[in-house]
Amino acid sequence: MENKAASQNPIGIFDSGVGGLSVLNELRRLLPQENLLYVADQAHVPYGSRPLDEIRRFSEAITHFLLVHKAKLIVVACNTASAAALTNLRNIFPAVPFVGMEPAVKPAARQTQSGRVGVLATATTFASERYADLMARYAREVVVWEDPCRGLVDLIESGEVDTPVTMTLLQDILDPMLASGVDTLVLGCTHYPFVIPLLRQISGPEVMIIDPAPAIARQVERVLQQNEKLASTSAAGEVRLFTTGAAGLFTGQVRGLLGMSERGETAVWRQDGNELVLQSAQV
Ligand code: DGL
Repeated sequence: MENKAASQNPIGIFDSGVGGLSVLNELRRLLPQENLLYVADQAHVPYGSRPLDEIRRFSEAITHFLLVHKAKLIVVACNTASAAALTNLRNIFPAVPFVGMEPAVKPAARQTQSGRVGVLATATTFASERYADLMARYAREVVVWEDPCRGLVDLIESGEVDTPVTMTLLQDILDPMLASGVDTLVLGCTHYPFVIPLLRQISGPEVMIIDPAPAIARQVERVLQQNEKLASTSAAGEVRLFTTGAAGLFTGQVRGLLGMSERGETAVWRQDGNELVLQSAQV
């Protein structure tokens, strides 16, 4: 009985902003019966140029928030937060199943024909130990072009997913990679799938673009299965969307990016002594 009730609890998902919605979208597609609870930390976006320990503090507080709202599994739908905080989160919350993200260097290295792979991520992800590990394990045999895509997250947050400014920025990033023979592009930041149409226009049809979101959704399904926590209902799940920024704006972003009509709710940051706490504005 208790297990059954627990299986109706939501999957918690967080990111610095709208990026993790690319993962939420895949989760809705694969697991439509699951309740989803999303936090966009737009008060602090972008994470990608912040120090690792700051991102760890945010991630820990957001995890607390999601657990207060009874999350049964947490998806760190942000490569930067995963690089900075995933190991810590698993240590601090050993009973919680986490699914994190990392740039898909392994599949890219396996499938490239030219031996040249482009990785688009954030500066903080590139600077992390997790990324260095990944490179050492899987990228020995290939040439990897890295680009921190400065300014791209901000453009996507302000809705510029198909404007000339974004197109120019992406051209400046991709042109030298493509000229050097890169045939595989890894999207190592969850914001970037929202500009796949522009990336495709620049790269042409031959280049493989790896968006990890579908694989992450399958991994969530596997972990829920292993923990016997898959929702045991056939009814469609509910989606609750929190932002630490402006709720009205976030509602519009979600509608624009995913065509969803759910309204954004506000979560507020509070300093409690030494502790940083996130709470729902309604409490
Ligand atoms: N969406 C995030 C990622 O996957 C972070 C973007 C940012 O806030 O810089 O890395």
